[in-house]
Amino acid sequence: MLEKSYPYYLANKAVKARAKLDVIDKYTGKVATRVALPDADALEKAIAAATAAAGAMKAFRPWQRQAVLEHCVARFRERKDELAYALCVEAGKPINDAHGEVTRLIETFKIAAEEAVRINGETINLEISERANGYQGFTRKVPVGPVAFITPFNFPLNLVAHKVAPAIAAGCPFVLKPSERTPLGALIIGDILAETDLPKGAFSILPLDGKSASPLVTDPRLKLLSFTGGIIGWDLKAQAGHKKVTLELGGNAACIVDADQADHLDAVVERLVFGAFYQSGQSCISVQRILAHDDVYDALKRKLVARVKTLKAGDPKKKSTFLGPMIDEAAAQRLEGWTGEATRAGARLLCGGGRKGAMLQATLLEKVPRDAKLQRLEAFGPVAILDRFMTFDEALATVNDSDFGLQAGVFTNDLRHAMHAWDTLEQGGVIINDVPSFRVDNMPYGGAKSSGIGREGVRYAIEDMSEIRLMVMRDV
Ligand code: SIN
Repeated sequence: MLEKSYPYYLANKAVKARAKLDVIDKYTGKVATRVALPDADALEKAIAAATAAAGAMKAFRPWQRQAVLEHCVARFRERKDELAYALCVEAGKPINDAHGEVTRLIETFKIAAEEAVRINGETINLEISERANGYQGFTRKVPVGPVAFITPFNFPLNLVAHKVAPAIAAGCPFVLKPSERTPLGALIIGDILAETDLPKGAFSILPLDGKSASPLVTDPRLKLLSFTGGIIGWDLKAQAGHKKVTLELGGNAACIVDADQADHLDAVVERLVFGAFYQSGQSCISVQRILAHDDVYDALKRKLVARVKTLKAGDPKKKSTFLGPMIDEAAAQRLEGWTGEATRAGARLLCGGGRKGAMLQATLLEKVPRDAKLQRLEAFGPVAILDRFMTFDEALATVNDSDFGLQAGVFTNDLRHAMHAWDTLEQGGVIINDVPSFRVDNMPYGGAKSSGIGREGVRYAIEDMSEIRLMVMRDV
């Protein structure tokens, strides 16, 4: 179902190059297909084309932008099986999760198509004192201009969609660098965008390595950098000059299970298992730290371990598989190392811990020392840790005892606890009665503290990609 090779996109046009980048099937480790490698000039040409296209994109009417986005929605629906298969191969994402991501891709573009025609300004009453008598203010939103995107391997479609679709809605030409490990999703989106009448130069999609892509960060012609990935994002921000920067950098998401959950533990366990282990925990909001009240801790632990042991690991192309490989063996080795380090420091392994190549078992630990990497850093893999708490305030303090703050989950029946958690947790989002891994694509999504800056969720990204332009009118 994959093509033999895929072009890259430069100024809306497919480019076939002799030099190729191998795309590895993350389960078999074999070359699945190849993509054209941009040559040394391609990025400069892409930035120049995007800069030249800024006026035409601004003049491209909202209904025209909407039509482009609707075209994408229709074509994604037609090509959904191909898209899901590509994700399954290039990311090792279990096929059910891959179909789930295609559904979200469609939803993200649908939201953007709706938002494209409701980018509004406001009328401002300026008569705050006598000196402003007869003055009125009006604002409208104008696109910031050409923008740069860098996206990660874990959602090769939907995290691309969260940048590309708002850019089209806002009227910004863009240059995108998808992860070199998973470029197919973005390139298929490019294939579909190339069918539209987006102004010439409106988009380029270049599967470059990080070093060659550095002008996306430093070039002053680009007015915004939107980056999703690791904490290296903060270094990129420091190099970005005057451009706006939005960063989505992940975390070590926590989920609290309150004392009153004894009657709901089966349902809680189902969600925790999903949140911790779907797509092998390779999500910025996968459950890493489970905090359970003393009243429910032992029962929760028993049920959790029993359920995790039933998870089917193996070939992501099989519908019965829940747990596929991590992105590569090095990632699995790293996390295996963190687990070993924690057990050597006194943690207790409850299940899992084994590794074969890039396949890491679904792993649970308890009694992990507070300073262990599994407590402090982002695991980004199928490992979760359990901690016991005695008071709800203690649990909130433990969640906050982290450099990160993307999303947290709280299972509780107590409305006061829910409101208190929302107020206290230093997070981009607090999810009550579900795992932090819950995301619908019109939610404002982004982090506090080291987890990032800015919000995605289409409407919020459109705001970042727009500037307010004021007109003041004096009544003469
Ligand atoms: C992420 O890993 O940042 C994205 C999570 C999601 O979109 O569900």
